[in-house]
Formats: sequence, C-alpha cells, structure tokens
Amino acid sequence: MPKLTKLTKTLATVCLAAALLLSQSAPVDETFLEKPYLQLGDAPQLASKESLVLLWHTDNKPADWAVEVRTSKDSNWRRMEAPSARKVSAPKGPPAVAGVNGAKKNDEGSPAIAPHLVYRATMTNLVPGKDFSYRVLKDGKSVFESNARARKAAGQAYRFVLFGDCAEGTPASKAVAYQASLAKPDFIFVPGDIVYSAGRISEYRTKFFPVYNSDTAAADRGAPLLRSIPFIASPGNHDTALANYRRFPDALAYFLYWDQPLNGPMTAAGTAKLAHSLEGNPEAQPGFLESAKPRYPRMANFSFDYGNSHWVVLDANTYMDWNEPALRDWLSKDLSAAKSAVFRFVAFHQPGFNSAKSHFNEQYMRSLAPIFEAEHVDIVFAGHVHNYQRSFPMTFVPKPQPDGKLKGPGGQVAGDWTLDHDFADGAKGKPRGVIYIVSGAGGANLYNPEQEANPVSWQPFTNKFISQVHSMSVVDIRGKTLRMRQVSDTGKDVDAFRLVK
Ligand SMILES: [Fe+2]
Repeated sequence: MPKLTKLTKTLATVCLAAALLLSQSAPVDETFLEKPYLQLGDAPQLASKESLVLLWHTDNKPADWAVEVRTSKDSNWRRMEAPSARKVSAPKGPPAVAGVNGAKKNDEGSPAIAPHLVYRATMTNLVPGKDFSYRVLKDGKSVFESNARARKAAGQAYRFVLFGDCAEGTPASKAVAYQASLAKPDFIFVPGDIVYSAGRISEYRTKFFPVYNSDTAAADRGAPLLRSIPFIASPGNHDTALANYRRFPDALAYFLYWDQPLNGPMTAAGTAKLAHSLEGNPEAQPGFLESAKPRYPRMANFSFDYGNSHWVVLDANTYMDWNEPALRDWLSKDLSAAKSAVFRFVAFHQPGFNSAKSHFNEQYMRSLAPIFEAEHVDIVFAGHVHNYQRSFPMTFVPKPQPDGKLKGPGGQVAGDWTLDHDFADGAKGKPRGVIYIVSGAGGANLYNPEQEANPVSWQPFTNKFISQVHSMSVVDIRGKTLRMRQVSDTGKDVDAFRLVK
C-alpha cells in the first residue's frame, strides 16, 4: 500500500505539471477584446415585442459575425439582422507634467488605443419578461453563448440593483458585483462614476469589463453580469466632467461603449451650457465624434420605462445648468407624459441632499425638487458621495440667492424643507414627499465613515447614514408595492423600507 500511495502521489504531480504546462501553452482567446454585453439601446418605451442590444469588441480584422436567439432548448435558433460595426481608436496623449492632474514624474501620458471594432446587434421579437438564450457566431462557428431576459412589461414584478461610484479596481468593486449577481436582478443601474479615474478606454479594459463581465462569479473576482443583465447608467464627474480630453484622448468612453436611449433634450455639443463641451486635442476629436455618433452628447440625458416604472436619467455635472428653462421644461414634460407609470424614479450623479462632509456644498440639484414634487416622483437616486444615505420623505422650497439665482457661488442652494418623520420604514403609511437616496458605496473608497455613528453630524433631512461598509440598493416592485433593501458587500441588509402607492 505505501508503494501505491507513493505512485499515486507521483502520478498526481506529473498530471498537475502537465496541466500547468498545457494551461500556459494554451492559445489566448483572441476572439474578443471584450465579450458580449447587454444594453437597453435606443428603446425608451415598453413594447409588445421587446428588444435588447448586444455589443462586443474585437480587433480590427474583418470577420463574418452573426447573432442568434432562442427561447428554449427545444426551439430553433433565430438569426438576427446582421450586426453593424464601428471603429474606435485614440491617439497617444501628450506626456504628462509631473504634479499636474495627479501625474507622476516620468509619466509617459495616455497610451495610444489601437483601432478596434465595436459590434452591435439588436435582438428583436423578445417576449416581455421571458428568459432567452443568445449565441454569437464568428465565420459560422458559435464562439459565445449566454442567457438573458427581456425587459418586463407593466404588469410584471421586477427587481433592480443600483450602485454608483464603482469601477475603481478595488476588492470592494468585485465584492459588490458578486453580491449583485446573487440578487439576480432584471437590470442594474449605475448612477455615475462608472469607471475611475477618467472614464477612459484603458480603464474600462482593466477595471470595468474584467469585474462586471468576469467569466466566473466570486467575491474576489466579480461576476458575469454584463452578458446576462442589462446595465443602465448616468454619467458622473469621473466619466465626463473630469475626462480631461486634452491629456487623455481615450477618455469619454461612456459615449463609445454604452448604448442607451437617445430621447434627451439636446442635439449639439456645448450648446448654451446644456451639454459637455469637447475641449482640447483637436487631433483626437474627429475620430471620437465619428465613433460616438449619434450618442455624443445626447446620451447624457434620457428617460425609459421598465415594468410599471418611468425613469428619468439626468447629467448632473457642473457643465449642465438645470436652471435653464429649456432643460426644466423637458424634465417636467417627460415626467408628466408618463401617465400610466405607477412609480417615477429620477437618477443622476451629484445628490442635492447629502449629509456627508464630502461634497457637502454641491447642492445645486436641489433646485429641481419642486419639479420632482409636482410630477409625483417617488425616489431620486444619486451617487457621488461614497456611502449610503436615505432621506425622510420631504418637500423643499428653494430660496433665490441675492443675485436672483438659485445656485450660490459654491454650489449651495438655500431653502426650507418639510420632513415626513412618520414614514419610518414605510409600515405605517404613504410618504409625504420625495425620498432621496445616495447609493455611492459601490466600490470606491468610502467617505466619512466617522459620521455613521454620529447622527448629530447629519442634516435634519437624513434618516439613515451607512458609511462603514460598501453596499448596493436592491429594489423589488410588485404592483403598487416597492421594497428596498440596502445590502452590504458581504450580503447583510443594512437598511430596508417599504413604499406602497
Ligand atoms: Fe463623483
């Protein structure tokens, strides 16, 4: 027996060595630069035949690509319309000056991004709420397969997960992604600061796709979310405002890699403070504009329906002026047109109501509170502040500054609030006012952990303040009942409430 054990051990060692050798010499999968991921596409409204957009990235070599869909293992694969492709590239950025914009000594600057292709296929004729499989074929051979679910109709229960300030390459980013996969949501919403530190192509490749489209699900790795669950997002300051296009020609990847509704209020860049302005690096601009067309800059603001809810997604960066009558008018009309929606949500990056010392003065989005109240918005979701905060249901009357404007020089907005202290966790009745959520603990370093146990440091409108753990919002909607839990990166509920219409 001892001899046999020794032989077994020797065999096991040989097998292990052979396996290691094989794995090291196995050819790298060069089919995709980024594996397929789901997007809502320019489909803001529910339809009896739903669609979803599938994107994937490849090198610049042409190939014959196709996408097929089936609703069960017994049914035939259905071929979709041929995918389109657009080329994306970026020139090398200038050498950085040490000490400027965080650049270090000997910083070579932004690397050139080799030309690559972003393929786009629309998966059509999907049955609302029904699971389906899709496969991607290259030159006639299936090279990728996954499951997905069509958008839910107004009468169907659904779940979404929401977290902001996420792809920073931290262990917490991966842990939150893993928890999101355990929650099995119908879609995931990211209220900005999607990718740090400047929303660049090179950063998407290292911090976003490997975590949220990981081949395996694990707390220290991330999860294969993007291939089976649509992500929807609003841009944060790190995605567009801090893009520093002059230094990083591979910035603004939000407009290159996301595919969302184009029903927002603007059509031209830099128009009367209504949109992001593309500054610097004239060498990079024509290529970017061609690749980003028609998403730049319109895709920064949009609205969509999911189940019985209507969502308005806003760009809250400082280059926008939400006191501009044309923008306020668009917001009012969009919300008011959603007459059949049971729930109305608004999502953007910089919160108007925030108790953290970080970003405290950036209150300018408060000026939209009267519109949210008049149009019966239920919850406003934000990020930017890297923790979790829930307000009491509230109304707010802004007071103009001495110069007649609502926004003060530091971003402050004065005014009077009325708070509904009776609502608590929603068990006793309906909220009187709008609930403001900050859910910016999706992965980046936490802000103001010292304030969690010090309610005296909170503003009067804050009901819950969780800043010692990373977390995500998990929201379930069934008919007129909404249940929301705030779930930590280890799966613990740190807050919960109910909202019944
Ligand atoms: Fe931010």
